[in-house]
Amino acid sequence: MATPPELQGRHIVLGLTGGVACYKAAELARELVRSGATVQVVMTDAALQFITVATMQALSGRAVATSQWDAREPNHMPHINLSRQADAILVAPASADFIAQLAQGRAGELLSLLCLARPIESCPLLVAPAMNREMWAHPATQRNVAQITADGATVLGPAAGDQACGEVGDGRMLEAAELRDELIAFFQPKLLAGRSVLVTAGPTFEPMDPVRGITNHSSGKMGFAIARAAAEAGAQVTLVAGPVPLPTPRGVRRIDVLTAQQMFDAVLPLAPAHGFFVATAAVADWRPVQAADQKIKKKARADADSAPTLALTENPDILAAVAGLPQGQRPWCVGFAAESENVVEHARAKRVRKGVPLIVANHGPAAFGRDDNTLVLVDAQGELELPRGDKLALARALVQQMAQRAPEARQ
Ligand code: C5P
Repeated sequence: MATPPELQGRHIVLGLTGGVACYKAAELARELVRSGATVQVVMTDAALQFITVATMQALSGRAVATSQWDAREPNHMPHINLSRQADAILVAPASADFIAQLAQGRAGELLSLLCLARPIESCPLLVAPAMNREMWAHPATQRNVAQITADGATVLGPAAGDQACGEVGDGRMLEAAELRDELIAFFQPKLLAGRSVLVTAGPTFEPMDPVRGITNHSSGKMGFAIARAAAEAGAQVTLVAGPVPLPTPRGVRRIDVLTAQQMFDAVLPLAPAHGFFVATAAVADWRPVQAADQKIKKKARADADSAPTLALTENPDILAAVAGLPQGQRPWCVGFAAESENVVEHARAKRVRKGVPLIVANHGPAAFGRDDNTLVLVDAQGELELPRGDKLALARALVQQMAQRAPEARQ
């Protein structure tokens, strides 16, 4: 069954204020609509200097609201109507001046008016600042940002980088896709608030020589999805990743490694400081005893005798080592089992052998590299199947199960 888009059923008021970053708001409106939201755009007079109503109306599929004096509203109260219908208000871009207005509770035009008039408990306000770095760093702006945060607004970004004015620094608005993901994360239940999760992901690469090595088809997608889902659920997340080209989920601390030994060396010291350990990495079981210093050359005549013989040695088992930490230092452990046959039986045996409370079984060839998967959770009580879905939806379901099964897990 296809997973419904993540913002399905959400009604978002997207507020635009004056700034060059209005060009990103066009893409953002599109991303929100693509994710299933209905989007009501509200623009300030300053925003109208940067992007047209026609563009925003076409992308959102709704008439844009620009004035509190719009006579088309039967009750003549657009500020009340707009904020009562919204699941959230997202102001992107939010100028320094607009943030100052919010901090002071001003209501001089429709957008500031509806932010002030919104029911604070049921209609959250998210703000994506966009301004020159000096404006962002100014004590007045920092004071205003602290004030709106204290008043319950969620400030998204800003990022650092090139600015439209030619300067480089803090104050760039987050990209449209980043803001979409922030909004999706905002709506996820905070099941792991105050908890910490350590995740391994991807394959490892065991060098034979400077240009070759032993690896596998793991894409890292499942582990990255779990890291993202745990972060969305409010956890502090550390992701130890093998060589994969995936982007780091927002808010996740990432440590890149290449070999199983490096993964072991990164994970073991971190494990006692985490409440959960989720081992999704497809760690190579063996590595060449010795990697050659130089590329191993073919003999001049390629006959059978020219093939080198590789001596292999076993890699340390990271999951078993973490599960074997003394109580008090041991996180609540989740292992993965990718099998090609008898998936559940192998997973049961693996759970006992590794000494972990939960093993997530999946069919390796049907999972590696794909965007969707089917998972079977195997614990001491039995099995629970999470039906085929995209890996992020499955990761969210797994996070929910972890929160339920380990209410007592350490922070
Ligand atoms: O033993 P096997 O590789 O089948 O077990 C899979 C589980 O153990 C996965 O959770 C994997 O991340 C973990 N593992 C590990 N270190 C290894 C081998 C596997 O952490 N060296």
